[in-house]
Amino acid sequence: MMVTRRNSICFVFAAILMWLGPGLITLPVAQVILTGDKIKAIKRHGPWPPVFEEDPSNRVSGSALAVEFGRKLFLDPSLSRDGDVACVTCHLPEKGWSDGQETSKGISQLDRNSQSLYNVRNNRWYGLDGRTDSLWAHSIGPMLDEREMGTSPEAIASALAQDAEYSRMYEQVYGEPPDVSDPQAVMVNAAKAIAAFQETIVSWRTPFDDFRDALANGDMEAAGTYPQDAQRGARIFFGKGNCSLCHSGPMFTNGEFADAGMGYFVRPGEVDTGRHGGIEKLRASPFNLSGKFNDNPEQASDWATRQVALHPKTFGEFKIPPLRELTQTAPYMHDGSLATLEDVVRHYSEIDEERLHADGENILRPLKLSEQEIADLVAFLESLSSF
Ligand code: HEC
Ligand code: HEC
Repeated sequence: MMVTRRNSICFVFAAILMWLGPGLITLPVAQVILTGDKIKAIKRHGPWPPVFEEDPSNRVSGSALAVEFGRKLFLDPSLSRDGDVACVTCHLPEKGWSDGQETSKGISQLDRNSQSLYNVRNNRWYGLDGRTDSLWAHSIGPMLDEREMGTSPEAIASALAQDAEYSRMYEQVYGEPPDVSDPQAVMVNAAKAIAAFQETIVSWRTPFDDFRDALANGDMEAAGTYPQDAQRGARIFFGKGNCSLCHSGPMFTNGEFADAGMGYFVRPGEVDTGRHGGIEKLRASPFNLSGKFNDNPEQASDWATRQVALHPKTFGEFKIPPLRELTQTAPYMHDGSLATLEDVVRHYSEIDEERLHADGENILRPLKLSEQEIADLVAFLESLSSF
């Protein structure tokens, strides 16, 4: 019944088109409008997904048992002080592993926007301020933070020792049951399993990746099917927008920090010091790569951690975020103050150069984009998402 009806609608539609004349039938032109250096730049933003590499600082990285144990811990609110908050409270799979709020709320309110955990294993630094240098070290923070889960090493160790299933899983992963006389070591091991789980969170291939691979293989016909508006947006992104100077490589971030002209007042009289405060915390942490919990100091070198300098320029800098799967992770920026991708593009279009502090990021200038260019750049950003 349905098929017959659809066929007859198609037939009527075709007849109308024939009657209107062939001049009106315009098929979309499949062509590549980008050239030379833009194509070269695009090739450097893949391939995707990256090859999995174990984290040498975490001896259970890549272990299937640790992934299972870590997944359970990630989902479990009973580990928090009031029994209500788990990692998943602020990192929901259906929100691209962030939480959809401007700023997150655990036991109490935070001042920052939750970060997506997609592809998090590829980061160089963790947290918007880069306060940790490994995924497992970062996973300790929210457990202890009074505003997030508000627990303690002792409480974690005894919770794992008292629960038969946790105790069994812990022993399977680490070869011995949780030792309550060394709570800090038990907490670090729990964090290493949670990190092993987070390493499995990888985003899918996107229209951009198909475009990029087609260009790399010289298949211009396939490349031409990538929408024209996204291609025009790419021309801005890799061209006059200078976006790819900071948002570079397969993750669309160089992994470092910058000032993108966002405000850093949290409330009147109180600022978010960003990277500056992050460096101070990184250096003071017993869990950084220079410390005793690094499982392989030879391969997981603390060189970069020892190099970071507390330069005044780092004040108010935030991590250059990756740009994959952004359609799932609104709102944007460290304070969640921009609601849509269009708002972000308008921010860059009108950026206030006076606001760019310290040495200034002279890469960023008001782009004064037309409405068409704004829509094109948004279309390009959307093509970095799989749905
Ligand atoms: C109350 C909400 C909340 C809870 C609970 C929470 N997080 Fe987060 N998470 C955030 C916010 C907000 C950020 C970004 C802010 C920052 O980095 O300071 C973040 C950042 C992160 C990052 C850094 C991502 C990156 O790209 O640098 C990781 C990793 C992470 N969280 C893992 C976890 C794990 C593991 C847990 C559970 C042990 C957890 N989070 C619990 C809110 C939360
Ligand atoms: C100087 C380096 C730099 C350049 C150039 C740059 N960005 Fe950014 N971008 C950042 C930083 C830093 C942030 C985070 C700022 C914050 O949270 O306060 C950011 C945030 C974003 C976000 C929000 C992502 C999220 O998850 O919240 C998007 C989208 C984005 N940039 C797109 C662009 C586009 C498009 C361009 C070019 C017009 C561009 N960026 C140019 C450094 C840069």
